[in-house]
Amino acid sequence: MDVVIVPDAAAVAEHAAETIADVVRSRRGAVLGVATGSSPLGTYAALAERVRGGGLDLTGVSAFALDEYVGLDPRHPESYRSVIRRTVTEPLGLDPERVHVPDGVAPDLEAACVDYERRIADAGGVDLQLLGIGANGHIGFNEPTSSFASRTRIKTLAPRTRADNARFFASEDEVPIHCVTQGLGTILDARELLLVAQGEEKAEAVAAMVEGPLASMCPASALQLHRRATVVIDRAAASRLSLTAYYEYVQEHRPKVKVSA
Ligand code: GLP
Repeated sequence: MDVVIVPDAAAVAEHAAETIADVVRSRRGAVLGVATGSSPLGTYAALAERVRGGGLDLTGVSAFALDEYVGLDPRHPESYRSVIRRTVTEPLGLDPERVHVPDGVAPDLEAACVDYERRIADAGGVDLQLLGIGANGHIGFNEPTSSFASRTRIKTLAPRTRADNARFFASEDEVPIHCVTQGLGTILDARELLLVAQGEEKAEAVAAMVEGPLASMCPASALQLHRRATVVIDRAAASRLSLTAYYEYVQEHRPKVKVSA
């Protein structure tokens, strides 16, 4: 795993945006995996700035979101369909037809999950998956004890996740109890993973992901299994890591050739 520690949230956004821009420039019709939550918002804003300035063109790029609430009207402003349209599709000028979000209101949810996996496969798989991390170590909505082999499926949100996400709703009771999420196995199939985190409240989860054991109690530790996983964090999110000096040393002495973790 490549651990990149930068001074602040703005630097996280810049570094992540540049990594994504590289993928988009190197592959025509690239397929991006996109995440909701507050963590990647700066990255999307930094990408949108490049698009507005003419330095990046996302024509032909497809995107697949990680997850969606079950039973929430897709027109609800906090449905992930709405959030992705507002924060990704519109500011980046993506073709809405090429932006996919799991269907949380399908009459047959299990069939919709299978269909979502098929759509990802039909697009040729995800080139780069952008991720945030929950305070309990979840990625997507893969809560602690999720299987490393899991595929897109229905999950029950952990009480802590519902409490964390209550800030987007009028009250915690309004946060749906169920969700549809890409599985850890689905996420690990992406050709490259890029996780962004900032702030002290993520420090414990980041330490468990990077330096803890590979354990389903910290679903993000699945990144340890991936050959091309990069974690971009600010100093606050890095504050519980023990090998900080080593990660900084590695960044200062990057080999000229590209190496994978
Ligand atoms: C949310 C999303 C995740 C996100 C995480 C952290 O519930 N399902 O994809 O990474 O929780 O959210 P935030 O970035 O707002 O802290």
